[in-house]
This record gives sequence, C-alpha cells and structure tokens, in this order.
Amino acid sequence: MTDRRPTLYLSRLLPDPVMAVVRERFQLVQEPLDALPTPLALREGLCQADAAIVTLGDLIDAETIHAATRLKILANYAVGYNNIDLAAVRARGLIVTNTPDVLTDATADLTWALILATARRIVEGDALVRSGQWTGWSPTQLMGAEVSGKTLGIIGMGRIGQAVAQRAVGFRMPVRYHTRQPNAATSFPCEWAYRSLKDLLGESDMVTIHVPLTPNTHHLIGARELAWMKPTAFLINTARGPIVDEGAVVNSLKIGIIAGAGLDVYEQEPAIHSALAELKQVVLLPHLGSATLHARVQMGLVCLKNVQAVLDGHPAPNHVQ
Ligand code: GLV
Ligand code: GLV
Repeated sequence: MTDRRPTLYLSRLLPDPVMAVVRERFQLVQEPLDALPTPLALREGLCQADAAIVTLGDLIDAETIHAATRLKILANYAVGYNNIDLAAVRARGLIVTNTPDVLTDATADLTWALILATARRIVEGDALVRSGQWTGWSPTQLMGAEVSGKTLGIIGMGRIGQAVAQRAVGFRMPVRYHTRQPNAATSFPCEWAYRSLKDLLGESDMVTIHVPLTPNTHHLIGARELAWMKPTAFLINTARGPIVDEGAVVNSLKIGIIAGAGLDVYEQEPAIHSALAELKQVVLLPHLGSATLHARVQMGLVCLKNVQAVLDGHPAPNHVQ
C-alpha cells in the first residue's frame, strides 16, 4: 500500500512527545539528527517536502526558498524568525509560522534567573564552593547588588517583555519600558511607565531586552547607549544576540561603564566574543530561553498544528508572513 501521508522535513530531533506525533502523521524526508544540518542537507530536505519544521539555527536564504517549489509551509520552531529571508518568502508566497505564547513564561523566568544570577554573583559563588577554596562565611565575601526595590527597564513590551514586568511585583521593582508603539500599551498597569530609550537606560538598574531582531533593532544597544546606562547597572539579553553590539558590551564592562551583563544570546552563536569568558561580572548561558521540557513540547505541537492547518487548506494559526 502506498504511503499517503504528507512529507515533512524536520531539521532537528525534537523532544520525544513531539517525535511520536511526527512519526505517526508524516513521512520524514530525512531522519533528523540532534545536530544542525549542513546547508546542503537542509536544502535537500526542504526541496523534497510538502511542509517543514526548522529551528533558529537554520539559515533559510532566498535561493533555498525559491528552490523548494513543493514546500507550502515553513514552521519555525521559535518565536523569532530572523533566520528566514522574509522578502523571498513573500515573493514566493510561502507560509511562515512561529511559536508565540507557549514559551513566554519559560523565557521570562530565564530572564529573571539571569537578573538574579548576575546581581547576586551566583556563578562565582558556585565556583568558589566547588573549588574547595571557600574558607567560610565572611561579611565582605562576594557582595552583589540589591535587586528588590531597584528600577527595572524593559526594552520591548510584547508578550515576553510584559511577562518579565509582571514578575517584578514581588521584587517591588518600579517598571520602566520602551517600545516602538507606546500607544499599543493602553492595557498596561498604570505603574509601568513609558520612557524614551535614553531615559530608560539612564534610570534603570536592570535593563532587559525583549524586541525581535530586525534590520531596525540590529545593534540597538551599542557603545553610545551603554554609556547612557548607570555604572552600577546590569544588561540582560535573552532576545537575539545581534540586537546588542557584543564588542561594545565587552569594552563597557572592562572599563566599568556598566556593572555586569547576563547573556543568553550572542552575535555569532555558538561563538562568543573572545574576552567575554574572562569577565567575572557576566553570566553566560547557551541560548536556554525556551529550554523547559514543557515549552519545547508545546513549541513542537504548535508547529504541527500550523503544518496540519496549511496542508488541510486552512489558514495557519501563527502565520507571520
Ligand atoms: C528562541 O530564541 C525563540 O525565538 O523561540
Ligand atoms: C547570614 O547568613 C545571616 O544570618 O545574616
């Protein structure tokens, strides 16, 4: 009997509960691996499939989009979709979808983990205990910065920015935010105060970034903006690396223009600026924003829902382009 199931290209192995659904409903054009596909394997996979689920590490260029004539939908296993050439997508009439909502809490939680870890020197403390060099409690040991009651500055007030702001209540932190569409913020609690980017950077003790990466937000935070921050302030980035000029962050940290940084994303992942790893006042994570089992399973199910809708001739629930 011929297999009538639609063909799917899946660029990476996803969590087991997602793989179980994938294997039941689709014919896989390639067996996915737990590693990034080569550009050739990616292109071959996309060219053979009716639908595809790809990840943020898969760079999908115009040439590939035009070559994949059979493909109807690219479901990006991420909320951000800067890895896909959107002009080519529009020209070709391809459907691109993302995975909003299901990773909002996981990413907001990780943002707070970085806020607390950088301010309270969690990683240095852990290293000291493990090293066997800890000589016992001391009144002056590893003193960090107070978090409670300090001012939280949020750049970008989409779902994740708002979820980060909501978590500030327990820390009694006044929230300042900057967004390109301040008028869209009429539903925000009145305690959250809009600021220009410059004023937000000047007032905040913790600055956290939650905008998408687009040509407009590339290097939104560079040397000039870092100089607007307080020397006691911390910069947190769980959005996309290229929003921040990584070299400028390194220089600012080295000369004390800012106090510290918590980074989950980098300009050239998985490479990082060579000086970052030598700086004690930074906490470096390997792009873990959505990395909970719950979020990663839900992200897969959202991709599958979008794929199914498009293959059935219905609108995709999370159509972005
Ligand atoms: C992760 O970085 C995402 O965009 O989902
Ligand atoms: C610290 O451990 C304290 O008890 O104050």
